[in-house]
Amino acid sequence: MTTTTSEQSLWLRTAPSTAYPSLAQGIHVDVAVVGGGITGLTTALLLKRAGLRVAVLEADRIGKGATGNNTAKVSALQATTYSRITRKHGADAAAQYAAASTAGVDLVAALAAEEGIDCDLRRRPAYTYAIAEAERDAVRAEAEAAERAGLLSEYQAESDLDVPFPVFGAVRLADQLALHPRKYAIGLAAAVDGDGCVVHENSQVVDVEGGEPPLVRTAGGVVRADHVVIASHYPMLDRGLFFARIEAVRAYCVAVRLRSGTPPRGLAISAGSPAWSIAHSGDSLILAGQSHRTGASDTAGRYAALEAFAHEHWDVAEVTHRWSAQDGSPYDGLPMIGTYLPGSDWLTVATGYQKWGLSTGSFAALLLAGHITGQEQPWARRFSPHRVSLSGLGNLAKMNATVARDLVGDRLAPMLDSSDEIPVGGAGMVRDGAGRKAVYRDETGQLHAVSARCTHLGCLVRFNDQERSWDCPCHGSRFDVDGTVLEGPAGKPLEPRTP
Ligand SMILES: Cc1cc2nc3c(=O)[nH]c(=O)nc-3n(C[C@H](O)[C@H](O)[C@H](O)COP(=O)(O)OP(=O)(O)OC[C@H]3O[C@@H](n4cnc5c(N)ncnc54)[C@H](O)[C@@H]3O)c2cc1C
Ligand code: FES
Repeated sequence: MTTTTSEQSLWLRTAPSTAYPSLAQGIHVDVAVVGGGITGLTTALLLKRAGLRVAVLEADRIGKGATGNNTAKVSALQATTYSRITRKHGADAAAQYAAASTAGVDLVAALAAEEGIDCDLRRRPAYTYAIAEAERDAVRAEAEAAERAGLLSEYQAESDLDVPFPVFGAVRLADQLALHPRKYAIGLAAAVDGDGCVVHENSQVVDVEGGEPPLVRTAGGVVRADHVVIASHYPMLDRGLFFARIEAVRAYCVAVRLRSGTPPRGLAISAGSPAWSIAHSGDSLILAGQSHRTGASDTAGRYAALEAFAHEHWDVAEVTHRWSAQDGSPYDGLPMIGTYLPGSDWLTVATGYQKWGLSTGSFAALLLAGHITGQEQPWARRFSPHRVSLSGLGNLAKMNATVARDLVGDRLAPMLDSSDEIPVGGAGMVRDGAGRKAVYRDETGQLHAVSARCTHLGCLVRFNDQERSWDCPCHGSRFDVDGTVLEGPAGKPLEPRTP
């Protein structure tokens, strides 16, 4: 898969490349893992350590998905997560999430040390801070909820967070992790590959069939495996109806070189909306935020807002990198980890990390590997994809009503009569017989036209002018301007059209 993002993430730009072969023949292993991000690779390594033969099948290159496009904080303190989980699911659920997230952080530190992974890993305090007086109560509530959940966090009325603007209180959790996420992923892959286990890149899985044994199909060959783990970020098989329960949310990051001063050493995120997330890598300051549901048409100005925040508070020499990514947000606010369908013991999945998947993807690996090796973790049932959360039903209805509205509403939206009306660098919907096509005119004036119907379930795609891609508002699939799939759940490209 390619990316239309004009500038790549700091992590993708500063990691070595990988060159695992694509699958070119049929193979037989104990476990096939679909997806080479932090979830798939960590699961694969734990299973290899348990003595199983594992094959990782990655559609693109290792760690180039969400794992290579984030703010790289591995933390059990996550904005206002504990107040939210306590409110929706109760104190026990918050305590289980805290225990699981702490286990995720510990696992990353342990694997990096034991496998000798050179990923710039360092211990840093994490903060949830109030950037305005109005956020102080939310921060105090989070401090109480996090402490009740069992985290060794502290409330700081006068925070020691080292930012150059006033902070109106913060929760602090010591000893969390900052790292280079793609280097970490590359190190995990190196530890997986060999001794009967394999990593295959450029090997997109197109289907998974149950049977004796189950079959995992790629264009280059079929993998026969007793267990299949779907770690494709957004689940790539429609049969579990995950797309009806998880919303895709995009967010943006910039890396900045400072003319004077140093970036904060703390890993911080503000408690309100919009959230301002702060991290660092060496001398680079990293800012993130500007979240929105994927497919929203108002993407203009997202990077500009982050850059304006940087200029307001720091002495910025230059913006060196811009990148964006998306993550799944489940209807009830808890990740979904476990069997893909009720009773499908051979087929498991982990998804819905709400932008905290470096720790959550790691504890998901503990759960999935435990399930396969018969050592269930104590918090396994809490995160089962098949739970019914009464507290989330209102949101579930709202999410699906929005999808239904987009499905119908976009078909009634005005369209152009001719591609001639599209300016250089612009895009639009153009009449195409009884339907419409999605047309983009590049900087050289050349037109690129594709069907506007998303190949997942037929919603109409929308242009994302920040990433120069066609994004589906229904379940977050994204396509390059030539129709290539950038992100699922869609597995097939948009059909080409004559401009
Ligand atoms: C802006 C932003 C900032 C974030 N910051 C943080 C942070 O600071 N800390 C944190 O903990 N989390 C953060 N996250 C979230 C975190 O990056 C993700 O939750 C996590 O990386 C997900 O890992 P994954 O392995 O599940 O998915 P991915 O890394 O996306 O891996 C999935 C892989 O599956 C592959 N794939 C997909 N379909 C197929 C197929 N059919 N066949 C084969 N392979 C396939 C993809 O190519 C991809 O490589 C952030 C997210 C965003 C959007
Ligand atoms: S992603 Fe589901 S219809 Fe487009």
